[in-house]
Amino acid sequence: MGEGISDYTRFVVDLRRHMWMAGVETELRRLIWQIAVTGKYISAKIHESNRKLAGFKNLYGEDQLSLDRNADDILKNQLEYSGFVREYASEEQDAVIQIGKGQEKYFVTADPLDGSSLVDTNLSIGTIIGIHKEPIFSCGKDSMVAALYITYGPLITMVYSAGKGTHEFVLNREGEYVLSQECIMLEERGSLYSPGGLRKDFTERHLKYLEYLEAQGYKLRYSGGFVPDINQVLIKRGGIFTYPALKKSPRGKLRLLFELQPMAFIIEQAGGIATDGTDPILSLRVEGLDQRCPIYIGSRFEVEKAMEFLAQNS
Ligand code: F6P
Repeated sequence: MGEGISDYTRFVVDLRRHMWMAGVETELRRLIWQIAVTGKYISAKIHESNRKLAGFKNLYGEDQLSLDRNADDILKNQLEYSGFVREYASEEQDAVIQIGKGQEKYFVTADPLDGSSLVDTNLSIGTIIGIHKEPIFSCGKDSMVAALYITYGPLITMVYSAGKGTHEFVLNREGEYVLSQECIMLEERGSLYSPGGLRKDFTERHLKYLEYLEAQGYKLRYSGGFVPDINQVLIKRGGIFTYPALKKSPRGKLRLLFELQPMAFIIEQAGGIATDGTDPILSLRVEGLDQRCPIYIGSRFEVEKAMEFLAQNS
């Protein structure tokens, strides 16, 4: 399929056609399509960006680029007018926002521009979306119906799952999302590891686990952007991404609702697993927008091995 992208004589499967063929329900299909299109607008903003800090902080106290706010506004406005979304929760907002009239089917979570501090380095960044059929303060396995992310890198790609496998699309020169990989499946065991956090802050058990991976010859692959780091595990068909509990912050760094649940959904649909070290990420109850959680996500072997190490008495 990949080589067909510039071959205009070949039949290409675009995102809409793919979702239709996969039997994704009509409204969900339209919503995913709308979000994918919004990714193009966000990408245009990234290109326009003058990279200056806006000079204010977001809810979590990090420096916020004006780009984050732009991405959030674009997404919120597009979703508002889509007619499919009742509530919108964004990492850039301090409360859930009612954007529909009350009858709409879906509740959307967004990290509009994850890793935006990497913009000046020209590394990949991304948008992460979770789509729920019930209010978002429940556990993901009860309410999530789809998740997707968009990577803004040398290529713009979109990976989605609506519960029928995980699929990747590439934005081509004509502005269409063309299917590049269908039903991506992780190997049982991979060969790369992507460890977030600082070594000096790791618990003894986590450190021992990383030493085990290193002794086994796993390759270090960490960019500092959650989207490209997860994308790498997915596209390379295996390995593990971790952002663990740290000595001073036992809840880790990454946000359960905006970052971890959507990625857990996508990786599980690709045959991988995602836990906080003991429980599946999608079984955890979300109680607050700023709720953080440790994560071990990727191929079954590496994640289960992490759970073994974390359960050991030191
Ligand atoms: O949550 C924002 C984020 O930039 C993620 O994209 C990334 O995985 C993580 O933080 C990186 O954290 P650190 O700078 O501690 O490696």
